Amino acid sequence: MRAPRGVAPAGRIALRFWESLAVVLVREMTADDVVGAEAVHRRAFAAQTGDPSFGEGSDVIRTRHASGNVAGFVAEDAGALVGSLLLTRWGTFGVLGPLSVDPSAQGRGVARLLLDRGIAELDSWELAASGLYTFADSPKHRHLYEGYGFVDRGPSHLWRRTPSLAGEYDVLPPDDLQARASYLWTLRQLTSSQLPGWDLTIEATSMLEQGLGSVVLPPRYRGLGFALCHVGAGSEAGPDACYVKAAVVHRHQSDVLLRALLEAVEAFAVDHGWARLEAGAPASRTTASRALLDSGWTPTGTGLAMTRPGDGGALGPDAGVLDDWR
Ligand SMILES: CC(C)(COP(=O)(O)OP(=O)(O)OC[C@H]1O[C@@H](n2cnc3c(N)ncnc32)[C@H](O)[C@@H]1OP(=O)(O)O)[C@@H](O)C(=O)NCCC(=O)NCCS
Repeated sequence: MRAPRGVAPAGRIALRFWESLAVVLVREMTADDVVGAEAVHRRAFAAQTGDPSFGEGSDVIRTRHASGNVAGFVAEDAGALVGSLLLTRWGTFGVLGPLSVDPSAQGRGVARLLLDRGIAELDSWELAASGLYTFADSPKHRHLYEGYGFVDRGPSHLWRRTPSLAGEYDVLPPDDLQARASYLWTLRQLTSSQLPGWDLTIEATSMLEQGLGSVVLPPRYRGLGFALCHVGAGSEAGPDACYVKAAVVHRHQSDVLLRALLEAVEAFAVDHGWARLEAGAPASRTTASRALLDSGWTPTGTGLAMTRPGDGGALGPDAGVLDDWR
């Protein structure tokens, strides 16, 4: 953990720094904060990536805040919302992010305040492991997260494919609650066999209940593979896209099953007219990376995966898993 803070440095500039910091308040995010937090999130990432249209048409803050497995915090400076942090709980695995500070408020320790609160929350969840995705080429980001015990776990790829191959697929029936419950029970068995206690069922349920997408299943291997796919504007995918936020297959023959699942996802995208397929996963998942390459996906961007040590149960290279930590 990082060294305790609190000793104000000497000097007038430092004093001004501490005075300005004193008015920043971190508190839990409420539904009333969502619009402001989304605006700050877009401004922060647009400035960071140099892409003024960053996040247009996709909806990350509102949709995650409405999920039962997400905790959110905001930073307020004299009543104005200047930053936010979301944390997602997938059973015994936690995902930290997105973290955003308005460009006008950066460099004043706001991210530290949000992370102090967020890490305390993560610690209270008693996780087996937690991870985050960040900018690989930014010493600032690395320094920030290392201060909270996160370590470099190597590159993490973002993958894309233009869907073209029609075929067969199934989806988890959105309205048949009994069938849904039975599939979700199977999903929990699969995730837990990859990492004890790892659980995507609340994630899947929230996605379905908010109408953000579908859980796609490979028809030949029902119950052995699941892909949580956000689709279109207003979801995390954005206009015209189908985004595999997380996917898991059975441990045995995970390479074959992953390929079958990716085929089903592509068929689902073709059938619905989505123009773009997207996914993400740490590059250390060699089985998953190989299945994506063999299925015609291309790595389009590379970030950095970081996890907190002590995560003895973390997913290994053979895990039949796609999990985007953005
Ligand atoms: C990343 C981000 C959240 C940081 O917010 P911030 O409020 O400016 O950060 P803070 O002021 O709390 O802390 C920044 C830390 O990085 C350090 N830092 C700044 N520039 C640095 C550099 N070039 N190299 C190393 N460290 C650097 C600062 O000294 C500070 O560390 P310290 O507290 O030990 O002194 C903000 O820049 C942002 O929203 N960026 C766009 C979105 C984004 O990238 N989010 C995170 C994605 S993983």
